Amino acid sequence: KPPSGLVAPHALFGADRPNSAGFDLTDEPTLARIEAARNVILSDAAPLTVSEPTGSAGPVVNSVTGEAIAQVTCADMATTTRAIDEARIWDAPPATRAAVLRRAADLYERHFGEIFAILGQEAGKSLPDAVGELREAVDFLRYYALQGEAAAGTPRGIITAISPWNFPLAIFTGQIAAALMAGNAVLAKPAEQTPLVAALAIRLLHEAGVPRSALQFLPGKGSTVGAALTSDPRIAGVVFTGSTDTARIIARGMADKLAPGTPLIAETGGLNAMIVDSTALPEQAVRDIIASSFQSAGQRCSALRCLYVQEDVAPLLIEMIKGAMDQLSLGDPWKLSTDVGPVIDAEAQAGIAAYIETRGNSILHQVKAPEQGYFVPPTLLKVNGIADLEREIFGPVLHVATYRNRDLGKVIGDINARGFGLTFGLHSRIDSRVQEVSDAVHTGNVYVNRNQIGAVVGSQPFGGEGLSGTGPKAGGPNYLPRFLAPRAATVPA
Ligand code: NAD
Ligand code: ALA
Repeated sequence: KPPSGLVAPHALFGADRPNSAGFDLTDEPTLARIEAARNVILSDAAPLTVSEPTGSAGPVVNSVTGEAIAQVTCADMATTTRAIDEARIWDAPPATRAAVLRRAADLYERHFGEIFAILGQEAGKSLPDAVGELREAVDFLRYYALQGEAAAGTPRGIITAISPWNFPLAIFTGQIAAALMAGNAVLAKPAEQTPLVAALAIRLLHEAGVPRSALQFLPGKGSTVGAALTSDPRIAGVVFTGSTDTARIIARGMADKLAPGTPLIAETGGLNAMIVDSTALPEQAVRDIIASSFQSAGQRCSALRCLYVQEDVAPLLIEMIKGAMDQLSLGDPWKLSTDVGPVIDAEAQAGIAAYIETRGNSILHQVKAPEQGYFVPPTLLKVNGIADLEREIFGPVLHVATYRNRDLGKVIGDINARGFGLTFGLHSRIDSRVQEVSDAVHTGNVYVNRNQIGAVVGSQPFGGEGLSGTGPKAGGPNYLPRFLAPRAATVPA
């Protein structure tokens, strides 16, 4: 019988891995400090309230208990129009703006307890994922502060920033930080599901010194507030992260109402593949497959959706994947023993469950999920290839196909033919193959002999091509310059 369950996934998902945010989650005093900070937040409802803009109120829901944890007052059309009227570019020297963003980074770090508590409550984030998210947000602030001090160009004007719920602090902050550091005014709309951590981020950015006229917060619905913020002719640019379908809607609205050429930075969805050939180290490949597919309950744009395994090693590898899946522990995201938490809300849970049901005959393996909470059972589905995937399933569902060595070129052709191009993983010990495959595949981020999630600001600029995004890769050198208008001035000698 092939070996199975060789890996202990909770060890892989960060619990025992020191991380760059300085939180060693194996250290008892650190854990006690986090727990104490969290208890203060949970015992006081006040910070879990967003009330600045006016408009209809909606609840924010805990993904485990389903309970409403806060009421949010959303922006309405009048607030949105007023915000655009009142927006002013941040007219301060780059060094001043950089100092403010660095101060904000320090404040984020100081408020770690509040941030972790809210990320767990409203986004169902595990503690290791929450630590990673805080790190990424802080890295964005410091990275763009450094880069912006030396950048040339002038601010474009008012930038609309629209973000998704799956990185409600990191992506929200990254968009704002780059646009602000370039001197623009920013109108920031968080996802409907996760306004609380965004509200806290805005509070800290203002406290650090960002002028209120340069940064305004507009929680609200995408179809109303989001649509208005991307179709007012006074908007000089839009930075969006979310689904490919929403990016298309925004692009259409912009084309109708904004000046031609108004920049749209859109970072969107993926149908991400990984190829494991017969020279790969099985234990390493399985560890990376499990993390890429099931960490964060599969709710990462970068997550692995379609795995191709070379035919001769497929029986062994698939058995090992099943064994590793059996070791995943599902439950309260706050517990360090938990590997897979809930998905974001009841709608996501129902949608993924319905998809799995339609594929009932193809289920190779499934892990039992808790009944209480928005859990989806991690599921392994058999497919013939990536062409069988209808769309991006944003949850813990992995599709697996086998291939023959002589068909490798066709596999790559099939992956490219889907038109998405976000992440791609390859496990192989043949150097020439690594080179050839990496060159042939049309994706923004290629990961070799490791997992394919968790890009690090500054060292792995992140972003896709084709249906996965416009570029210019967050956390890399080309991102911030997109928020600047290049100007050429000529003065007679
Ligand atoms: P979504 O597209 O439903 O929503 C994203 C944001 O767009 C939200 O703030 C929403 O309110 C807003 N929105 C919705 N309709 C709008 C409209 N008509 N006009 C303006 N704004 C509108 O996406 P989601 O469900 O929040 O996030 C998951 C998706 O995001 C997945 O497809 C995932 O792959 C993608 N994602 C991509 C990246 C990346 O870097 N490429 C990162 C994270 C998530
Ligand atoms: N930047 C995130 C990752 O790489 C989405 O997983």
